[in-house]
Amino acid sequence: MPSLSERYRAAREELARFGQEHVLAFWDRLADSQRAQLLDDIGQIDLARCAALVETHVRRKPAVHVPASIEPPDVFPADPDADRLSLYQEARRAGVAAIRAGRVAAFTVAGGQGTRLGFAGPKGAFAISPVRNATLFQLFAESLRGVERRYGCRPRWYIMTSLTNHDQTLQFFAENGFFGLSADEVFFFRQGQMPAFLPDGRIALTEMHRVALSPDGHGGSLRALASSGALEDMRRRGIDVISYFQVDNPLVRVIDPLFIGLHLLNGSEMSSKAVHKAYDTERVGVFCLIDGRLGVIEYSDLPNELAKARNPDGSRRFDAGSIAIHIIDRAFVERLTAPGATVQLPWHRAEKKVNTVDEQGRAVVPEIPNAVKLEMFVFDAIPLARNPLVLYTHRQEEFSPVKNADGVDSPATAKRDMIRRAARWLESCGATVPRGADGEPAMPLEISPAYALDVEDLHERLHEPVHLTPGRPFLLA
Ligand code: UTP
Repeated sequence: MPSLSERYRAAREELARFGQEHVLAFWDRLADSQRAQLLDDIGQIDLARCAALVETHVRRKPAVHVPASIEPPDVFPADPDADRLSLYQEARRAGVAAIRAGRVAAFTVAGGQGTRLGFAGPKGAFAISPVRNATLFQLFAESLRGVERRYGCRPRWYIMTSLTNHDQTLQFFAENGFFGLSADEVFFFRQGQMPAFLPDGRIALTEMHRVALSPDGHGGSLRALASSGALEDMRRRGIDVISYFQVDNPLVRVIDPLFIGLHLLNGSEMSSKAVHKAYDTERVGVFCLIDGRLGVIEYSDLPNELAKARNPDGSRRFDAGSIAIHIIDRAFVERLTAPGATVQLPWHRAEKKVNTVDEQGRAVVPEIPNAVKLEMFVFDAIPLARNPLVLYTHRQEEFSPVKNADGVDSPATAKRDMIRRAARWLESCGATVPRGADGEPAMPLEISPAYALDVEDLHERLHEPVHLTPGRPFLLA
């Protein structure tokens, strides 16, 4: 292990090569533990990559490509029409066969900072279920157990964390006995970090001994799958299909045979689920054909007239909202991340408020954005994929993210949607669900995904009539 002073000399030389030596400006004022921390932070940074990005994305704004054409894409319907009935049946069979053959893995991206929710801990440790208060991670683990019960094979689970929440995430799983999974079925890995930059291109410090580092975006997951050895682990085990989802959606169908099967039959490298937009300007990315290629345009970049455009029958023209659920081929990630790969995900620039220090080392808390952060987005891989497809799903069945502490997309709305879904499933199985004057179920309801993965599964499992009493929580687990 090199000494602190050897590490310092090496770091100083490297930083000087890229004009970033100010990162060590307070070295003389730091205690040894702080010096070690600062050197660790510096070790996280790919300085050569940053140097190129400073020129193209920090000192100036990257050139925006204005597409010549933006058209709505074809989207597979959630429920098949008569023409597609046999295709959907075949797809479901192909999906189940892939699951049974152990070819499919679940992949959760959980490296975000969860700033809006403001929960002190990894977001997956947030308690969300209406009756048991089960956490997001617990629900996903139960889904995998449900898949094993139903299809006879438990998919392996890959979880991407960030430097800041990695140890807490591991500890949370250990404390909870891996929610009935075994420790070696879950592969945790950290995503990459990027420093924030001051507008002149200098790397920002948050304290005299800390670089302003943050995760490099969910798009960083592709690179992190490769660098962590997760892809290699998949290859060894014969896993070639990755079911990608975000940590914040308790309704997600973690492994969906129909979606997997359509992806396989279509020869897609990356497939996506969409929901019909709730209203024209909903803050979700929208699937579009951009110069003929499928991609996602962020809500903030979609021209207003397109967001509001209508088809002759009055339906919304750009209506497929992205919900960040994908099937991704392992081979596609390998192709994008191979050494010397010619295509790469683009970087997105965002101006943010970042606490920094001034030249004397005094804390600066900005009131307006003072720094540039760079992130990659996973949906930018879609235009790079062969035969990408989009499948609609029903929002009320599969999408209710926990983003904010209250209001829209909050714990309250996610719980409400979990209860509503359970009520619909129970009613479809013949139960009577007492409802209040507002039409909502008159008690908390919860169906663990270990018990039933979907309404068909519930039909097969429920042999006794269900009796519900207003005010009394009801649980199937
Ligand atoms: P969000 O865009 O909602 O960001 O992430 P966030 O960081 O979780 O929350 P805010 O914006 O700070 O409130 C969507 C999904 O992508 C993951 C998140 O963990 C979440 O599952 N993500 C996001 C990463 O894994 N890494 C990142 O760098 C960013």
